[in-house]
Amino acid sequence: PEITPIPQPRTIPFIGNLLDLQDEVPLHAIERLLDIYGPIVKMSTPAGESVVVGGHELVDQLCDETRFCKVPGANLKSLVKEGQPRSLFTALAEADPDWQQAHRILMPAFGPLAIEEMFEEMMDIGSQLILKWARQGSEAKFLVTEDMTRLTLDTIALCAMDYRFNSFYSETPHPFISAMNNTLLSNSNALQLTGIIKKLFPSTREQLRLDDELLHKTASDLVQYRRDHPTEKNDLLNAMVYGKDPKTGSTMRDALIAANMVTFLIAGHETTSGLLSFAIALLLLNPRTYFAARKEVDTVVGTSRLTAAHLKDLKYIEQVLRETLRLHPTVPAFARGVRPGRSTEIITDRQGRNFEVPPGAAWRCLTSKSHRDPAVWGSDVNEFVPERMTDEKFAALPKNAWKPFGSGMRACIGRGFAWQEAQIVLTLILQSFDLKLDDPNYQLNVVQTLTIKPKALFVRAQLREGLT
Ligand code: HEM
Repeated sequence: PEITPIPQPRTIPFIGNLLDLQDEVPLHAIERLLDIYGPIVKMSTPAGESVVVGGHELVDQLCDETRFCKVPGANLKSLVKEGQPRSLFTALAEADPDWQQAHRILMPAFGPLAIEEMFEEMMDIGSQLILKWARQGSEAKFLVTEDMTRLTLDTIALCAMDYRFNSFYSETPHPFISAMNNTLLSNSNALQLTGIIKKLFPSTREQLRLDDELLHKTASDLVQYRRDHPTEKNDLLNAMVYGKDPKTGSTMRDALIAANMVTFLIAGHETTSGLLSFAIALLLLNPRTYFAARKEVDTVVGTSRLTAAHLKDLKYIEQVLRETLRLHPTVPAFARGVRPGRSTEIITDRQGRNFEVPPGAAWRCLTSKSHRDPAVWGSDVNEFVPERMTDEKFAALPKNAWKPFGSGMRACIGRGFAWQEAQIVLTLILQSFDLKLDDPNYQLNVVQTLTIKPKALFVRAQLREGLT
């Protein structure tokens, strides 16, 4: 078939499209290019060429597991230092024996039964958030993203490895969080001039080295502690320390366990914290949906203690979470490329144009764009409408239209974990408080590290009548 060259903005010698990519929110720069150039766009920078896809029809084809698979981009490659083992998330290929071993050992540990067993621990940390907000009273204002990060970090650490960061009992974030944010920010800034210039300073490079060391030390200490203090607890750490690969009978080595621990601590909290923060922002900016969600909580749970059995009846809460991740997928892209062993593939857009995907290329599927494709979602794509996410409508969506958890074999292993945690926390908040935006004229803007979050979202929380 006839091949169309991939549209690309005009380049400048030596720096290519680098100037087109400058934005405080790098994601917005790419979204702007897709607005101008259509469902697919190519960019070149001193770091190489990259292709981004934003139309649902193209994302859909790239999600075909027989032809394509996850092919990590430069960002992910540079995240792991030479000689360190790669975790589930940073593994370069499904063929990597470390990925296979960890995947087989951990899949059951993230399964529905195991997640339900974590309900009480999720409630424990959720209640700490509620207590903090209740204690400080309705005059206090809270930076939502900060408290959600406390909550999600404490939850993953408790559920995964029986460790308490006790973030609600300290004003400054745990050093692990600062170290992690620096590392993530430096990677997401890889193509921002400010980031490039900062990295030229030896002091920045030294700080990054220290941060990276702290992350790995925190994780290795946790593994060592468990070896020294065995528990019966059915958590992810025990699954990794004692679990045997059902295929080979082998167990995971300590360095690989620690690498996966860092991944769980990072992947397991930034993302869910963003989801909860966006959900709160969207509910407050759309009072109709706020009252609908609260009414459901009052009907299903009332003033009784939330139990795991309630969750399946909290349908509207689920719709809110789905719609939140449609509008603001907190991991806004995933990379796909031709499956190893296959040659050049062709994908076709709605206008019938054919584009060649060469082997080795890592094309980014930008969900923040494909989730707003009017051909799938209609003319109100930019509105927050949880009603479009009922079970029935959700099941009838075109294939690969809603992809906040990535695709195929390498899709998110923690989806069930994140979901239950978000359901619990959103429900507890709606049950306990009258929430208000601190700034009645709040406009939803995003900040981006590796994930995205609402910017400067402050709320006030008044205990609801009848609750003390
Ligand atoms: C993979 C999103 C929560 C652990 C992914 C991917 C996405 C994603 C898009 C695929 C990345 C790629 O293709 O490169 C999210 C979102 C979450 C969330 C939006 C919350 C709302 C979690 C949690 C955990 C977790 C709670 C762990 C406790 C992982 C891991 C992978 C992954 C280990 C790599 C899986 C593999 O390649 O085998 N996630 N995630 N995530 N996620 Fe999540």
